[in-house]
Amino acid sequence: AQAHDLKDRRILLTAGPTLEDLDPVRFLGNRSTGRMGIALAEAAAARGAKVTLLLGPTHLSTQAAGIETIAVRSALDMYHAAVERWPDCTDGILCAAVADYRPERVAEEKIKKQAGPMRIDLVRNPDIAEELGRTKTAGQYLIGFALETENGLENARDKLLRKQLDLIVLNSPRTAGAAFGHATNQIQLIDRNKVTSFELKPKLAVAHDILDRLVADKPTL
Ligand code: C5P
Repeated sequence: AQAHDLKDRRILLTAGPTLEDLDPVRFLGNRSTGRMGIALAEAAAARGAKVTLLLGPTHLSTQAAGIETIAVRSALDMYHAAVERWPDCTDGILCAAVADYRPERVAEEKIKKQAGPMRIDLVRNPDIAEELGRTKTAGQYLIGFALETENGLENARDKLLRKQLDLIVLNSPRTAGAAFGHATNQIQLIDRNKVTSFELKPKLAVAHDILDRLVADKPTL
């Protein structure tokens, strides 16, 4: 980690969960806390980057200088905010745990319980990573995350290619102390040619490892 080696970069970061409303009081969500993404935002800002942090609902936040936080709720909110800001950014790091599906309809009134089972129809959310990858210009570097419970490397490589990412960070929820909600994480960095494995370490140190790789792959703008 070099002091200010990210000066002049504008980094778009997505972090945290998305919540998909069912009615005025209920939603579908996931266990992401945004901790890894906030660590990345703070590490990048400390190295001189201007960071736009699109943050899903979480109890965590950051007050660090150099970070503009935009609070979003649903996958669609995050998608629109990301698509709007991507053209102004030099790099993107997508760690949000974006819901793949949302309820087809958001009920205006609280859904009443009824006799027997209940069905909720879900529709697919747009893939933010895929859209940013598709519209990426030559200078833009795009990093995605993969959280896999099985066939990690194979699935991560498949995502790298399908979403046109430059790098993918693979973390396994099966590793003790890694991923959702933990203070530490253990990652592998995967690109088209190689896999680099790292030790279990605090998320801020993991963030610096990821940023070191960004600088190594794209030393100048
Ligand atoms: O396909 P999967 O959800 O496993 O891909 C994970 C990567 O794609 C992460 O970087 C995540 O932030 C991103 N993603 C996204 N929009 C979605 C789904 C995933 O940006 N709708």
